[in-house]
Amino acid sequence: MSSQSLNLARKPRRILVTSALPYANGPIHLGHIMEVVQTDIWVRFQQLRGEDCVYVCADDTHGTAIMLRAESEGITPEALIARVQAEHERDYAGFNIGFDHYHSTHSPENKTLAQALYLKLKANGHISRRSISQLFDPEKNLFLADRFIKGTCPKCKTPDQYGDNCEACNATYSPADLIDPRSTLSGATPVLRDSEHFFFTLPVFTDMLKTWTRSGTLQEQVANKLSEWLEGGLQEWDISRDAPYFGFEIPGEPGKYFYVWLDAPVGYMASFEAFCQRSGYNFDDYWKPGNDTELYHFIGKDIVNFHTLFWPAMLSSVGFRTPTGVFVHGFVTINGQKMSKSRGTFINARDYLDHLDPEYLRYYYAAKLSAAVDDLDLNLDDFVARVNSDLVGKVVNIASRCAGFITKGFDGMLSATCSEPELVAEFQAAKDEIAAHYEAREFSKALRQIMTLADKANQYIADKAPWTLAKTDKQSPEVQAICSTGLNLFRLLIAYLKPVLPTMAQNVERFLAIDPLRFDSVDTLLLGHRIGTFEPLITRVDPARIGAMMAAVAASVSASSASDVGAGLPAIASLPATATPLSTDPIAPEIDYAAFAKVDLRIARIVNAEHVEGAEKLLKLSLDLGLDADGKPELRTVFSGIKSAYHPETLVGRLTVMVANLAPRKMKFGMSEGMVLAAGPGGKDIWLLEPDSGAQPGMRVV
Ligand code: 2FM
Ligand code: ZN
Repeated sequence: MSSQSLNLARKPRRILVTSALPYANGPIHLGHIMEVVQTDIWVRFQQLRGEDCVYVCADDTHGTAIMLRAESEGITPEALIARVQAEHERDYAGFNIGFDHYHSTHSPENKTLAQALYLKLKANGHISRRSISQLFDPEKNLFLADRFIKGTCPKCKTPDQYGDNCEACNATYSPADLIDPRSTLSGATPVLRDSEHFFFTLPVFTDMLKTWTRSGTLQEQVANKLSEWLEGGLQEWDISRDAPYFGFEIPGEPGKYFYVWLDAPVGYMASFEAFCQRSGYNFDDYWKPGNDTELYHFIGKDIVNFHTLFWPAMLSSVGFRTPTGVFVHGFVTINGQKMSKSRGTFINARDYLDHLDPEYLRYYYAAKLSAAVDDLDLNLDDFVARVNSDLVGKVVNIASRCAGFITKGFDGMLSATCSEPELVAEFQAAKDEIAAHYEAREFSKALRQIMTLADKANQYIADKAPWTLAKTDKQSPEVQAICSTGLNLFRLLIAYLKPVLPTMAQNVERFLAIDPLRFDSVDTLLLGHRIGTFEPLITRVDPARIGAMMAAVAASVSASSASDVGAGLPAIASLPATATPLSTDPIAPEIDYAAFAKVDLRIARIVNAEHVEGAEKLLKLSLDLGLDADGKPELRTVFSGIKSAYHPETLVGRLTVMVANLAPRKMKFGMSEGMVLAAGPGGKDIWLLEPDSGAQPGMRVV
């Protein structure tokens, strides 16, 4: 919320902004951080312009995954979500995300709102009910979501495929069509069971959605995708789940619960409602139609259907307003690759904060963010180069070159006029264009323009070379004027950068001894004013810190299951045994522990092995790595050059050791997603490295 004194001629805009609610079953990672940084920059920009902008979020706490995780930890779901929420809030705070309120979907406000919404949908005739047949785990006594069922693909017969699609042939099917299905929770064979479900009658809203999605609320790319869906015809949406389920019971329907995605977006309202209770804001002003308030959701591209179909349709049914805009972003990749636990590139917010300054990442993300749905690559070398070059080399450099002369020669007093009025005016005149870029979420364009100005400021100082003049006269009025101009240019840049770098801006405000900057502070200059003492505003990114972070990421993956690993595993004489035949390369150079810690060695079970047509030396292996951190089964395909030593059928069921974080390699025959370890001279003499009995798929080798 803006605490600025407003000097706008018009009334400030009243804006409510949300970021997607993170699931309470895992930590905040750098993908979440990209979204909240994008949102936070936009919100801060609005506030610095004097708009009345409120930013709320919450933890998304319901669903089977959270219930199962709590069970496996031996705690209640309530205890689990309370612990996770504290961690989430701490991580977000570490990145200076300025939520006005952070709530939980497992809250009284959300329960009341979700139930009221449902009852209204029902009264409007927008809820239907019918019995559906689903796979049920007779041991765990629960219905199985598709991701908890695996079996053999009915089309291409590849084993160990998930319940709804085959990774080998891309077929999509119903889990009931799988051959030999089994529950990944208990291993039991699921049975088909009928149960009554509740549906939201989405197709009724087709026309409403066709209009809404083309009303300027969405990026064009998103609107186009939605047109395809809308033309293809909408389906009713299943909004209920059977007990046992961690969520809210459906009023009047014992044993039936709202599907997590029903009450998750209602969580936006609930968080705002809780904020209203302590702030005096009026809930209805923001959620009833006919007000001049604006509502924006920032989300990732994977959850577009929930926010642009189900959510606006439900809102319109119950007589609430629809969002003014839904802003969709892409995914974060690390060095060009999807974030992956097994590859050691799954960087949690905490891993980052333990090693690096949050403002570096805020800057880097902003420098690469646009209003498009594109993915954003965090290239770690580029990150170091960009932050050091722009923030340290360009921006802070201006202040560090000028401050000393003013402090030493003029007791901190800036001159009464600036010496380069045209340059200063150019900086001031950039305000509207930079503001337009921020408003349009074209942050990369805003920062490019700001850095161009920073280059000009540095050029000005280099041309005037106050250090040369100061050699003869430390108190020359010219030195004072040049350095005062430089510091004024610096102040203008910081005002423009403040939405991105709130902490640095605060440090600058202290150094310059000024009131908090706002966007239109650029209309005035700092003349005849005494500044404080210069302190380093930001330090260079030390690449060693990146190395330390990545080593810690790799080590935490290993440590998370090191204690489970059985003793007595064979020593690893690591000869590659994948695409290429066994290598007789000379011994590799010595590596240090940090390098070793990056290698994720894990036990894998060979669940399938087959000949590869046209390949002389390769077998295609399907490897089971157990469950990943989200409790999902992890399966890999690896092409291994061990055909000369093994018949495929003799391999199925055996355990082996694999390098789980080797970057996938595209081979003639398909993608190879790791490497199994073997030793021997080749031919018939290739021995797979096998763990002693007692090892389980997924265990880390230490
Ligand atoms: O995809 C997710 O991570 C969901 N927890 C997002 C929910 S956003 C909103 F609808 F609650
Ligand atoms: Zn298949």
